[in-house]
Amino acid sequence: MTNLLPLLADYPLQNLNTFGIAARARQFLRIGHLEQLQAIYHDSQLKKLPRLILGGGSNLVLSDQVDALVVQMCLKGRQIIDEDDYFVHVEAAAGENWHEFVLWTLSQGVGGLENLSLIPGTVGAAPIQNIGAYGLEIQEVFDSLTAFDFATGNIVRIDKAACRFAYRDSIFKQAYKDRMVILSVRFALPKQWQARLNYADVAQYLNQQQIATPTAKEISNAVIAIRQAKLPDPVQIGNAGSFFKNPIVSAAQRHSLLDAHPRLVSYLQESGDYKLAAGWLIDQCGWKGRQLGQAGVYEKQALVLVNHGGATGAEVRALAVAVQTDVQAKFGVLLEAEPVFV
Ligand code: FAD
Ligand code: EPU
Repeated sequence: MTNLLPLLADYPLQNLNTFGIAARARQFLRIGHLEQLQAIYHDSQLKKLPRLILGGGSNLVLSDQVDALVVQMCLKGRQIIDEDDYFVHVEAAAGENWHEFVLWTLSQGVGGLENLSLIPGTVGAAPIQNIGAYGLEIQEVFDSLTAFDFATGNIVRIDKAACRFAYRDSIFKQAYKDRMVILSVRFALPKQWQARLNYADVAQYLNQQQIATPTAKEISNAVIAIRQAKLPDPVQIGNAGSFFKNPIVSAAQRHSLLDAHPRLVSYLQESGDYKLAAGWLIDQCGWKGRQLGQAGVYEKQALVLVNHGGATGAEVRALAVAVQTDVQAKFGVLLEAEPVFV
């Protein structure tokens, strides 16, 4: 084996997942060069091992023992590629920190990503669940990505249609799961920038600040302030953001739920279906602020499960099941987990 692959055995992952679960990896490797992925592909032993591609570890629920080769994506680099009459094309490597990348685009005078400020994690993970917040999903500003294909050993460029983006979903959580390693992501950011203020919290915040025509930077600051007030900082309290997706139900199902629960929080979708606020459903079941072992439901946002210190992966799963069971019993709606369970 060459020094391209300095493998570390029984490696601690507690500081590499925002839930702070004290997991250990059977084998661990930092990827700073594409050649390292190619070397794994050409190594008959390593290629056979189950793999976990790790970014910032902010959307994972780890088991205490991760019996896999964990590869942490540390590829760096970001640049403005080109521009035409309509778009500025910007690209970043998978290992770049997402929020720093957003701030960098703004510092270059390029707006378009500001509503996605302060989402933890890496650029390479952003397409996996089509990250979204405060009125924008990355699919709306996504151009294409490059990936290393572990089925063929080739580098491929994948365009937007092929990614099959949907709410908190893409082909990388489905058919390409465990196959494609994202190397870089390219965005097409509109030259005719327009403020995106359709999320009530953002409009309200700017209103309070008496900012009538906000710049992209002012929207970024607003989103940062709203997020800091609502969501726990993983440095202080372990979590993976929203633990469940907001469930989507038919207009008929929403109608009958509204009969029984007139204060139900729901949002009309383009399809005519409704997205329900899972946080409200969990809140109504009385789970906010409650704890099972060292895993708990965050006191300010019921959709976020937290680690009160020393929670195991099993405790987090047990709490998630208890919450799901109660929501299903009260509302007849099954909550689907958002983070990836390993
Ligand atoms: P990881 O957790 O390391 O990995 C997540 C998944 O992506 C895993 O399956 C992993 O194998 C895969 N993966 C990672 N990198 C690659 C790669 N280069 N190639 C192939 N596969 C890869 N998400 C939102 O959408 N909106 C939010 O508003 C939001 N808020 C959050 C707030 C908090 C406080 C926290 C902790 C999380 C939040 N999240 C949110 C979830 C999370 O930040 C995103 O899902 C983020 O994109 C995960 O990035 P990561 O690098 O940490 O990925
Ligand atoms: N609510 C309650 N009680 C709670 C929490 C929420 O009643 O404890 C109700 C409130 O009525 C509130 C509504 O739920 O108005 C929606 O709450 P919020 O605005 O906080 O948004 P969310 O639906 O809980 C989603 C995303 C977040 C994203 C925000 C902002 C999902 C699963 N979650 O949260 O994404 O940041 O909107 O766009 O779609 C993530 O994916 O990890 C994440 C944090």
